[in-house]
Amino acid sequence: MIAENLGRPVNIRRQGIGPTLVLIHGYPLDGAMWSSVARQLSDRFRVLKPDLPGRLDNPTTPEGSIASYADFVQAVIASADAPVGLAGFSMGGYVAFELMKRRPVSVQALALVDTRAAADDEAGKANRQAAIATVRAEGVGPIAEAMLPKLLSPEGMKRGDLMERVRRIILRQTPQTIESDLAAMRDRADSTDFLTQLTLPTLVVAGEHDVISSPAESRAMAEQIAGARFIEIAGAGHLTPLEKPAAVAQALGEFFEENLRSRSS
Ligand code: MLT
Repeated sequence: MIAENLGRPVNIRRQGIGPTLVLIHGYPLDGAMWSSVARQLSDRFRVLKPDLPGRLDNPTTPEGSIASYADFVQAVIASADAPVGLAGFSMGGYVAFELMKRRPVSVQALALVDTRAAADDEAGKANRQAAIATVRAEGVGPIAEAMLPKLLSPEGMKRGDLMERVRRIILRQTPQTIESDLAAMRDRADSTDFLTQLTLPTLVVAGEHDVISSPAESRAMAEQIAGARFIEIAGAGHLTPLEKPAAVAQALGEFFEENLRSRSS
């Protein structure tokens, strides 16, 4: 499937047949972080896992703002030409919040996966700045090594195959893309007050050992959204879709079956 970003055609990987799901990846990753989950959902859904700007399938110059990433996802949803279920993982959740503030009628159900409504505080912004300085001076390598223990649980860090897979995804990102993501996350708007304005079916998911968006914070976020459901993924860190893909696919599958299939058929 082809969508447009800044006037350039972008290839959107898709698999399966059924109601459409759009899965937005996080930092410092690309759409491949959803591969196992997408495969497991593709028996019931048409699954799209686009690369945000600056990645393999979408090599346009990234603009360093959540709004520009949301513009692209909006174009993906428009080209899907169907009601969609939207899932945003972490930075992808920040993009989903930005998009939902535009009230897209075609998004009918929302999954917020290991993400946060709060903006960066001053310390968080300073950390983004430090990471930008690191990637400019030393490239992507140190970013990968610093991120791995934040993405995976201690158990996940013992799985060499998993660690290598995540490292490979991070190392194929360019320094410009990493910098764009960091600037976008640093400057993102706070969405806490927006939570009560979400009126569509919403699922909140967090890994038991998530150190970036903790289960406690995620549960509190779900409590602010009318009717939202919260699911904790046992034994996983932040990167639940790669660490526990079967549990995440089951949670998303059941949620979107219930809230999307009936509406789009
Ligand atoms: C992500 O997983 O997308 C990021 O780590 C989120 C963040 O750093 O705020």
